Amino acid sequence: MENKRVLSGINPSGSALHIGNYFGAVKPQIALQETMETYYFIADLHALTTVQSREELQKNIKNVVLDYLALGLDPEKCVFFRQSDIPQHSQMAVVLGNYVTFSHMKRMHAFKDKLHKGADEESINMGLFNYPILMAADILLYKPDGVPVGEDQRQHVEITRDIAEAFNKAYNKEVLRLPEPVISKETGKMMGTDGVRKMSKSLGNVIEIFADDDVIRKQIMSCFTDPNRLKATDPGTVEGNPVFVFHDLLNDDKVEVEELKRRYREGTVGDVEVKEKLFVAHQRYFEQAKKKREELSGNPELVQKILRDGANKAIRVAAETMNEVYETVGIVN
Ligand code: TRP
Repeated sequence: MENKRVLSGINPSGSALHIGNYFGAVKPQIALQETMETYYFIADLHALTTVQSREELQKNIKNVVLDYLALGLDPEKCVFFRQSDIPQHSQMAVVLGNYVTFSHMKRMHAFKDKLHKGADEESINMGLFNYPILMAADILLYKPDGVPVGEDQRQHVEITRDIAEAFNKAYNKEVLRLPEPVISKETGKMMGTDGVRKMSKSLGNVIEIFADDDVIRKQIMSCFTDPNRLKATDPGTVEGNPVFVFHDLLNDDKVEVEELKRRYREGTVGDVEVKEKLFVAHQRYFEQAKKKREELSGNPELVQKILRDGANKAIRVAAETMNEVYETVGIVN
């Protein structure tokens, strides 16, 4: 997919990134900016489906923007913007809703999962039900080749393709491009500190990135290890052991990691030492990003300018597609 266009959105429904978000989504997305034309945006309108506190929404948006810029998103290489700055997202969603059926929408996982978790239809707002339509609008406006997302978003990219296909078919014209999902296999689903379930804020099994040191230390210290190892002198298992999974990702001192694994297998190192070293590795790994984040958070004008410039670039593409769509359906002035 060299030199192709990719687009992805980030829902600011939470306020703190964890290393599962980083290795599963943020890092691969940022890497793409080197070889492709990248469009990344903050899906703030999507966040309204779940965040209905003004203060919380604003805090989340600010944090997500700072996190992405601090972790290496480069506004010189990538078009970085806010969904709500581009009115075409909303306009396109209104049009696209006519090329998907109610029964197809009812089969969407995100909505069905809520029902399964015990929510009744009374508590599902229409923003949530329509979430995939707005997401299809986000994507199709930019005619990307690929959409880098986590495994949980695959179905949303699929319905986007279906909607584009239905639209093109209705007018017998290739107006909208069908995008491919780009999903990284290894890290799309990273295990949490419980060593069992996917790392997720709501499960409380995360290691955060920009939290205070004592919070991160606590998260690392609470990490599960080999459940069959009772004493530091028992030989332990390294494979699939969360502390070593995290060492492999975060610890750039590979000699130290190999040494720790050898001693763990022999039963000559305790869990505490392995975790202490993981904490130090975490600090080293994110040291630059933390510095960058502090600088940016002290310079809100710069951050605003980045988003404004991004919106100016994005709107050109979005407006062109929107005009083409209106023209196609027969809404012309
Ligand atoms: N639904 C995505 C998520 O929860 C966020 C998102 C919104 C998105 N619009 C998008 C992702 C368009 C890719 C393309 O992570």
